[in-house]
Amino acid sequence: MLNANTLAIAYLISASLFILGLKGLTHPSTARRGNYLAMFGMGLAIVVTLFSPAVQNYSLIFAGLAIGAVIGIVVAMKIDMKAMPQLVAAFHSLVGLTAVLVAIGTFTEHAASGIIDGVMLVELSIGSFIGAITFTGSLIAFGKLQGLLSGNPIVFKGQHMLNLALGLVTLGLVIQFSQNSSLTTLLVITVIALALGFLLIIPIGGADMPVVVSMLNSYSGWAAAATGFTLQNNALIVTGALVGFSGAILSFIMCRAMNRSFISVILGGFGGSDDDEESAAMQAANQGVKSAAVEDLAFMIENANRLIVVPGYGMAVAQAQHALKELTDILDERGVEVKFAIHPVAGRMPGHMNVLLAESDIPYDHVVEMDEINPEFATTDVALVVGANDVTNPAAKTDKSSPIYGMPILDVEKAKYIFVIKRSMRPGYSGIENLLYFRDNCSMVFGDAKDVCE
Ligand code: TAP
Repeated sequence: MLNANTLAIAYLISASLFILGLKGLTHPSTARRGNYLAMFGMGLAIVVTLFSPAVQNYSLIFAGLAIGAVIGIVVAMKIDMKAMPQLVAAFHSLVGLTAVLVAIGTFTEHAASGIIDGVMLVELSIGSFIGAITFTGSLIAFGKLQGLLSGNPIVFKGQHMLNLALGLVTLGLVIQFSQNSSLTTLLVITVIALALGFLLIIPIGGADMPVVVSMLNSYSGWAAAATGFTLQNNALIVTGALVGFSGAILSFIMCRAMNRSFISVILGGFGGSDDDEESAAMQAANQGVKSAAVEDLAFMIENANRLIVVPGYGMAVAQAQHALKELTDILDERGVEVKFAIHPVAGRMPGHMNVLLAESDIPYDHVVEMDEINPEFATTDVALVVGANDVTNPAAKTDKSSPIYGMPILDVEKAKYIFVIKRSMRPGYSGIENLLYFRDNCSMVFGDAKDVCE
């Protein structure tokens, strides 16, 4: 068994490794190393905890580790990169549930032995409260992202007043619990928090979900920190605080990048923004079309081996060709193979796209005509459609009643992942719906083409 000092030093080392891990995650080139450092830190924390005198039952711990490891390995091997946000949300819900169970378990154990004081009761009730909010909030976020629930904000009159009232009632109950030490009071606090988690996330629209996931990440950190106080485990307190703060900072940065105020995001439908992008995302969600954040798009193209950009009339409208040139230079430098697919009638005049791409000095060898590029889509990681619409519509091949039936199109649908940059769900020149947007491998990134590329 390790004594308290050795444990404290080991926890300090693992906490330092977590900090170095976070630092590594700030850039893709160091992210892998950051992950290894954090994994090593977590491994160290787990091993030394096993040698702590507090541990009494090894069989339960090993059973838990084995079940967790099997689930973790299977999920990690199977997960599609695009499903990452909902996976993260699902994992956060487990952190929240753990905090609730640890709080209730610790309370019943300590209450039975009579060793419990007011401070501990406050810690336990706060731990259970944050954990329960994280649990239901994350489940709702998972449901919205996975498409099990509508991505639309669900709002009703008096929603914010109800949340405020529930918050105040909880505060009163926490004070009462610190005095009466009653299991019933703790359970009532937990049930209210479960309802609050639900109520806080339902008004938030699909477009804001990336911010919500990051915010729930922050909550799960605070839930873990609260668990650390309950179990008097310094490693959990430090790790929880790191996750809590980094999640909160990330949410803030994302809001700034989306030009949204943090308050308007977390209050959801409150003072509803009428941003085009936001309503476009809602409309898309209503029609069963996925939308993605610019950050998701950036992540995917940065990690792609091959990228095909499909420019269309929207690129001309937005004058996005210069931003695309800068993007191409950056990706070239990072070893991503970038090509531009030119449809003969993309835009509104012959050679429209070639002229604009040449104007921005995109090298000619990157620009490929339709017949030559079409066979390449099937082996391409990401197709990035920049303001093109009709020239990518698979209806031209399959729907005999379509006005564009028979028009040769770019085989964008065959790429592994497709991202479409446009401002809304409005159709293109032909006035018809694009079937491409309903494909499983397709996500819309709503916004002006130039802004998004920049
Ligand atoms: P379109 O099908 O016309 O679609 C262009 C898309 O760009 C629109 O859906 C629009 O969606 C989006 N867009 C507009 N402004 C944008 C902005 N600032 N930022 C981001 N997206 C923006 O274009 P295409 O795919 O290039 O196809 C050309 C069409 O024009 C074909 O139907 C073709 O037959 C026809 N046409 C071509 C020619 C020649 S010779 N090229 C001549 C006449 C007609 P949002 O409004 O939602 O953003």
